[in-house]
Amino acid sequence: MTRIIVIANQKGGVGKTTSAMNLGLAFTESGQRVLLIDLDPQGGLTAAFGIDSYDIRRSAFSLIMYSHVSLARVMRPVRERLALVPASIDLAASEVQLAGAPDRAQRLRASLRRGQLPFDFVLIDTPPGLGILAANGLVAADEVLIPVQCQYLAMRGVRALMDTIVRVKKNLNPTLRLTGLFGTMYRADSVHAQEVVDELRAVFGKRMFQTLIQYDDAVAEAPIVGLSVLEYMPRHPIAEGYRALAQEVMRGSVES
Ligand SMILES: Nc1ncnc2c1ncn2[C@@H]1O[C@H](COP(=O)(O)OP(=O)(O)OP(=O)(O)O)[C@@H](O)[C@H]1O
Ligand SMILES: [Mg+2]
Repeated sequence: MTRIIVIANQKGGVGKTTSAMNLGLAFTESGQRVLLIDLDPQGGLTAAFGIDSYDIRRSAFSLIMYSHVSLARVMRPVRERLALVPASIDLAASEVQLAGAPDRAQRLRASLRRGQLPFDFVLIDTPPGLGILAANGLVAADEVLIPVQCQYLAMRGVRALMDTIVRVKKNLNPTLRLTGLFGTMYRADSVHAQEVVDELRAVFGKRMFQTLIQYDDAVAEAPIVGLSVLEYMPRHPIAEGYRALAQEVMRGSVES
């Protein structure tokens, strides 16, 4: 059975895209077949694979806008066992174009649920904010995985996100469950970061994964050359971190 996981946090810059790419790669290293879907008009995930969002015809936009466009037509292989549905710049217009449509949040779900998916995992990267595209991700998924930056005020954003998830469950996707939360950009030398982690663990308990993804500026270098951290610096603590997180996620979601 395919596990469809949306990576969500309405706060910008917390590591959603970095996690989608590196977790995806980590799954493939364990022999899993993975599909990544870039739902962000900024196309960060698409660019990280060296694909130009301004120069593609078939993308997540076509999948969401046109019911006759199939997943097979918009996805492309990017690595062994890894495929990508890229974002194109016109995805930005979909928020406006779908504004009046009654099924606006169900579009992606409809196109993913049409047949059997030849993948073990589908990871959906969402844009910051809680607009129609992020909603499409939350409605299409079975599970939601939440990266939390180990920084001041992190908690506030997570509470708002939890409220949103409750609303989505109630109105649009009753079987949505939490995969778990995990800390990103953790600085081991910072007392403050440790306080944030302690607070997250106190509030979320088992719903928080053990793995903490550390902070290192070197992370920014990998996508520039079109590589994941796992490929660019295979033995780096951040690469090992994403491998450990992949193992935790493979063991199952915190909610059954
Ligand atoms: N562990 C890390 N250590 C240091 N920098 C990181 C780490 N993870 C991500 N970054 C950097 O932080 C920035 C934001 O990361 P990323 O794009 O993954 O976040 P995002 O949540 O997808 O952002 P957005 O909400 O804008 O889509 C990027 O420049 C990225 O290179
Ligand atoms: Mg992003």
